[in-house]
Amino acid sequence: MKDNIQLGIVGLGNMGRAHRQNILDGKLSGIDLKAVCDIPQGLPEKREGESQFTDVGAMISSGEIDAIHICTPHPSHREIGVEALKAGLHVLMEKPLAVHKGDCQALIDAYDATGREKVFAAMFNQRTDPHYKILKEKIDSGETGKVRRVHWSVTDWFRTEYYYALGGWRATWKGEGGGVLLNQCPHNLDLFQWLFGMPEQVTGFLNFGRYHQIEVEDDATLYFRYPDGSNATFITSTGEAPGINRLEVIAERGTLTVDEGSIRWEQNDIDASTFSDTAESGFAKPETKLVEIPIDGHGGQHVEILQNFADAILNGAELISPATEGIHSVELANAALLSAWKKITVTLPMDAAEYAEILSHKANTSTFKKKDIKAAATATADDFAKSNKA
Ligand SMILES: NC(=O)c1ccc[n+]([C@@H]2O[C@H](COP(=O)([O-])OP(=O)(O)OC[C@H]3O[C@@H](n4cnc5c(N)ncnc54)[C@H](O)[C@@H]3O)[C@@H](O)[C@H]2O)c1
Repeated sequence: MKDNIQLGIVGLGNMGRAHRQNILDGKLSGIDLKAVCDIPQGLPEKREGESQFTDVGAMISSGEIDAIHICTPHPSHREIGVEALKAGLHVLMEKPLAVHKGDCQALIDAYDATGREKVFAAMFNQRTDPHYKILKEKIDSGETGKVRRVHWSVTDWFRTEYYYALGGWRATWKGEGGGVLLNQCPHNLDLFQWLFGMPEQVTGFLNFGRYHQIEVEDDATLYFRYPDGSNATFITSTGEAPGINRLEVIAERGTLTVDEGSIRWEQNDIDASTFSDTAESGFAKPETKLVEIPIDGHGGQHVEILQNFADAILNGAELISPATEGIHSVELANAALLSAWKKITVTLPMDAAEYAEILSHKANTSTFKKKDIKAAATATADDFAKSNKA
C-alpha cells in the first residue's frame, strides 16, 4: 500500500473550495491536501499542514505535491495543465478540458510526451450518475440493440443575470470562450459521446445572449449526423425555467426515456428492423412491454471522481473519466459554434486551427459590456455544493 497522494489545488473559487471542503469533511481517503494556490484574496483561511501559494509554478515545483487538481477558469487549463504534466505530476482537470480543441490536443501531446506514466483525469462527475451508467450498460451489452436516433433536451441549466455577473470571466469570448456549451454542457456533451460515440457532422443553431446580457450562446439546438446515417438532436439553454432534462434513445429494441428517477423502456419483443423485414401486414408493430427501471440518486459525483483519481494513483484503479477523452466534448461544442458562426455544417474531425483563430479574433475585438453586479460576488462553496450535478 502506497502513502497518501500529496494533493495541491489551484483555483479556490466555487469548485476548488467545494473539492477542498469535501476533503476536509473526510469524504475522501488516500489524499493529503498539502497545498492550495490562488491570488491572495482568493486563498482560504490558512490550515496547519496546508501550504499556500499565489504562483502556480511555485506550487508545481515546490516538491510538496505529487498531484494537482486544476480548478481555475478554463482559458488557463492548457498552460497550467501542460506545466504540471511536464513537471511529472498526476493531474486532475476540471471540465471542460480546455476552451478549444487545439488546447486539448496540446494537453494530450504533453501527456504523451511523459510516456503516459502518471494519472491524467478529468472531472466529468456526471459519468457517476446511475441514470447514465445503467443506460450505458444496456447499450454496450447489446441489450437495446443498435441505437437508431437520440434526442436530448437538457434545458434545466437555468441561470440568472446575477450568476453571469458573479464571475468576471464568465460568458465572454475572452474569459470563457463560449457560453452554455462550454460551461454547463461539457457534462452532457461528454455523456453524449460516451454513450453514443462521436458524430461525423455537427450543425449548430445558436442564439447569442438571447436570455441574458452576454455575448456568448445561452440557447442552442445541435444536430449530429452519425457515420451510419443516424441523426441525433441536442437542445440546451440557460434561459428556460423550469426546463427539462429528458434523454430519449430510440433503439432496435424499443424506446428508452431517461427522466429524473427512472429509465422507462418501451421494449420491443424483437428488433424493429427484423419485424419490419418479416411482417406480413403493413400496419403491424412489434409487441412491446413496459420496463420501468427506477434510479436512486445521482451517484458519487465530484467525490467519486476525485476518489477514483486517488485510487488510480495509489492502486491502479481504472479511470472513470480519463482526461484524454475530454477533447471530444470540447470538439462538439467548438463545432457547433463554428457551424453557427459560418452557417455551415461542420465535418469532424474539425479544423482546430481555424476555430482557434476565429475565437481569438472574437476575444480580442470584443467591445461587449455585460452586466456587472459587484455586490453579487458573494457565492460561497456552500451555495455551490447545493447544486450537486453542476
Ligand atoms: N465539474 C463541475 O461540476 C464544475 C462545476 C463548476 C465549475 N467547474 C469548472 O471549474 C473551473 C472553475 O470554475 P469556478 O466556478 O470555480 O470559477 P471561480 O471563478 O469561482 O473560481 C476560479 C478561481 O481560480 C482562481 N484563479 C484564476 N486563475 C488563476 C491562476 N492562474 N492561479 C491561481 N488561481 C487562479 C481565481 O482567483 C478564482 O478564485 C472552470 O473550468 C469550471 O468550468 C466545474
